[in-house]
Amino acid sequence: MTRFKDGARSDVLVIGGGIIGLGLAWRTAQRGLSVTVVDPAPGGGAARVAAGMLAPVTELQYGEEPLLHLGIASNTRYADFCQELTAATGLDTGYRATGTLAVALDADDKAELSELHAFHQRLGLDSRWLTGREARKLEPMLAPGVRGGLHVADDHQVDGRRLSTALLRACELAGVTLHRAEAVELLVEGDRAHGVRLSTGERVTGGQLVLAAGPRSHQLPGLPDGVLPAIRPVKGQILRLRIPPAYGPFLSRNVRAVVRGGHLYLVPRADGELVIGATVEEQGYDTTVTAGGVYELLRDAHELVPGITELPLVESSAGLRPGSPDNAPLLGPTALPGLVAATGHYRNGVLLAPVTADLIAEYLATGTVPALAAPFSPSRFARSPR
Ligand code: GLY
Repeated sequence: MTRFKDGARSDVLVIGGGIIGLGLAWRTAQRGLSVTVVDPAPGGGAARVAAGMLAPVTELQYGEEPLLHLGIASNTRYADFCQELTAATGLDTGYRATGTLAVALDADDKAELSELHAFHQRLGLDSRWLTGREARKLEPMLAPGVRGGLHVADDHQVDGRRLSTALLRACELAGVTLHRAEAVELLVEGDRAHGVRLSTGERVTGGQLVLAAGPRSHQLPGLPDGVLPAIRPVKGQILRLRIPPAYGPFLSRNVRAVVRGGHLYLVPRADGELVIGATVEEQGYDTTVTAGGVYELLRDAHELVPGITELPLVESSAGLRPGSPDNAPLLGPTALPGLVAATGHYRNGVLLAPVTADLIAEYLATGTVPALAAPFSPSRFARSPR
């Protein structure tokens, strides 16, 4: 085992300063622990690309009920989380309680959506079936061909960029130490995670370490084999359009649809931004925006809301979702003593940020894994560390 002299030491050392790492750093500092975050660009990460749909009900997948409960728990605390952030920092997070309308464009979509509605009803979730006419009454910009829809009153939205900025500021105000450098090696001493070596050569240590480095979490050199499964990068391309003020209301709520088997969503922000997402591409650590990706998004969005072609297109970008082997997050202590995981949130990183922050802070402060986190234990993938 490596022997080394301690550098700066805090109670908790967080590797990764995206919204997952910053959220839990903030909550942990609020519990009186000293916290350090290492990241070359804290406040960056996938949340800066994401549309920020908070949609545990409309994005529900069959067989993912534990994830649904976690998503609903996070959604329920979102308004307070953002209010608290704004009170602490003076910064707006772009949280909007708009609700979501999921619509069907053809007979196959309608059959799929009505299956989803039946599933919602079996689970006692609040979603209301609408005819095409009723859906268009709610959102007059929808294409005349829309055949039906589901109105989900509690699936909302937040602006991931504003949220990232506010979390970074909240961490600074709460006394979190930020090391703007890359963690290049995990330091293990006496079979316990102890710290990291930074790209600057400096070593920082912590009583407990949290690995929140998204799709690069499992790649940290020095991490013993078998502690974390591979977290795969799943690329999402996304577009940002602007609704000129003269247009008046364009869309009033999140709109989603399945178009040709692909999930499409349009998220209208209060400031006039309209986000259209997202592709789902499994091809490694590539964030190139492609003509094909942009074409698909515009083609499908145009089918759903023809008026989008009039709007200025202001940005195209791509981010990487961190996908675990079962697409659910890894939350809690790992097989390596001293190392806690908060990663693998896949399509739900923005949604799950508040509940992840609360659950991991609770574990770090008390040593007890909260019941809500138990189904997401990293041990479900563990092999003996070597
Ligand atoms: N949750 C939206 C996405 O991952 O595209």
